[in-house]
Amino acid sequence: MAMVDQLREWKVVCSETIEDALRAVPRHVFVPDVPLEKAYGFDPVVTHRDAEGIAISSVSAPGVVGGMLEQLNIRPGCRVLEIGAGTGYNAALLAHLVGFTGAVTTVEYDAAVTQSAREALTKAGYGDVTVVCGDGAFGWADNAPYDRIIVTAGAWDIPPAWWDQLADGGLLLVPLRMRGLTRTVALERDGAILRSRSVKECGFIPMRGVCAVAEQNVWVGGRDGDLLLRVDDGQPIDAEAVGGALDHPGTVVWTGVPFAMPEILDFWLAGMDGFCRVLASRDAAQNGRLVAPMFFWGSMGVFDGGSVAYLTTNADMSELGVCAYGPDGRELANRVAGRIREWDSVGGPRMKVRVEVHQIDAASSSDGWLVIDKKHSRVVVRTVPTA
Ligand SMILES: C[S@@+](CC[C@H](N)C(=O)[O-])C[C@H]1O[C@@H](n2cnc3c(N)ncnc32)[C@H](O)[C@@H]1O
Repeated sequence: MAMVDQLREWKVVCSETIEDALRAVPRHVFVPDVPLEKAYGFDPVVTHRDAEGIAISSVSAPGVVGGMLEQLNIRPGCRVLEIGAGTGYNAALLAHLVGFTGAVTTVEYDAAVTQSAREALTKAGYGDVTVVCGDGAFGWADNAPYDRIIVTAGAWDIPPAWWDQLADGGLLLVPLRMRGLTRTVALERDGAILRSRSVKECGFIPMRGVCAVAEQNVWVGGRDGDLLLRVDDGQPIDAEAVGGALDHPGTVVWTGVPFAMPEILDFWLAGMDGFCRVLASRDAAQNGRLVAPMFFWGSMGVFDGGSVAYLTTNADMSELGVCAYGPDGRELANRVAGRIREWDSVGGPRMKVRVEVHQIDAASSSDGWLVIDKKHSRVVVRTVPTA
């Protein structure tokens, strides 16, 4: 199958067991309404949208599915809980991997999606998967404890049920949002602490239900203005003050630090108060109303009072710079540039991210680079040098 050959070549899939599962489970059965080349293509396939046309369910891209299965380290006989059944495709792969001695339970929020997942699983020969309609934030206690819990929707928090239903030494794999940055984090349970074994970049449909927490959108330059700040984790922001930042001339500070795909820099800057993601209008940049950001769809940024700074690059994308607007724009740009130089001096892109999660009531550790208190958990992020 070309899809699997390619995933092997890209080294997204390295284990023979996962390769076998991807070859065995017929992906097209789970997305019956699209042509075969789309079912076996490399993009996610959206299957359900809400009344406003926003995607609420999909089958994830095969690269994401294969990569997550690699992170999950499943063995025959494992008891697995999946949150977000979607089409049922991933549940079928899980069932293949755990074999006859294991068990898979999958929970889906949407009743219509649950029904189609159940039907597709039966049609594909995986009718022994338990498919439940409910809010996955509560897990599924009836079949607990689980050796593995895999969440296939974006989560902002780790609710108590996932702790309670995960066996000690078990793995929880979750696309976790931290200051607006989502990563699939494989967390191993060690008593009262979850410690990351692997962390990968990703993007996911957000979780609905009791654990749904939206980011705050703050416009600069009025509604539908030229900049939109996405602010996570309830950080306090003076929307009125920062909304006028573009009334001040912009300033750019060059860092002398080479441009690199900034996976780790994201987290390094996320440790600054006021970290946010900045979305910018292309039209405004093309017409000289603002300096083009590093990425129009979301560059790292920092706000402080009535000022905002965001990352930019020079024309040949060889150097990182910081652009800022607002009454204290120059000072803020210098502060952010200083952090970037500091990042470069301690290892830059050669660093790795480690994540530790504590239950909020019992949390003691706060010595990370970035400590985020959620409703149920404290997330501690550290950047460490690669070995
Ligand atoms: C990316 S899709 C999952 C893909 C799926 N694993 C597959 O193989 O097709 C995310 C799913 O999570 C579901 N979801 C969102 N919030 C949920 C919640 N609180 N509990 C259970 N499912 C949820 C959505 O309805 C959607 O079907």
